Amino acid sequence: MIAIGNDHAAVALKEEVKNILSERNIEFIDCGVGEGERADYPLIAEKVCRKITDGVCEKGILMCGTGIGMSIAANKIKGIRASVCSDVFSAKMTVMHNDSNVLCLGERVIGKGLMREIVEAWLDASFEGGRHSKRVDMIKDIENRILN
Ligand code: RB5
Repeated sequence: MIAIGNDHAAVALKEEVKNILSERNIEFIDCGVGEGERADYPLIAEKVCRKITDGVCEKGILMCGTGIGMSIAANKIKGIRASVCSDVFSAKMTVMHNDSNVLCLGERVIGKGLMREIVEAWLDASFEGGRHSKRVDMIKDIENRILN
């Protein structure tokens, strides 16, 4: 199960992401807004991330104009490793090395075709563990010291 969310700047992008998830028979919970509605991205980011920290969803996809505001907000939440990606290589590597659990996308940054490749690369990648686990554990250690 994946939680998805968007503000008013990424309604069309969210619809495309829903198509990709449906094609792959991946269930999702839509925490975002539709056409004609407005939303403040930090609220949507928190809703999506809470689905993950509450154990309802395994991963999340957040979309706004740039993807950046969503990622800044999401990374304030303990247990969230949110990555803004505008290229396929980063989308794959952030799962393999950083165990990314939230992908952030910017509708005003990337086109539909690239977005599809980014989402697919991120969904298909797996965390490599090994030496990368130690570093992810170091991120968790920062969270335990700072984000209580
Ligand atoms: C909304 O205009 C815009 O600021 C938002 O979608 C996002 O790009 C923020 O990072």
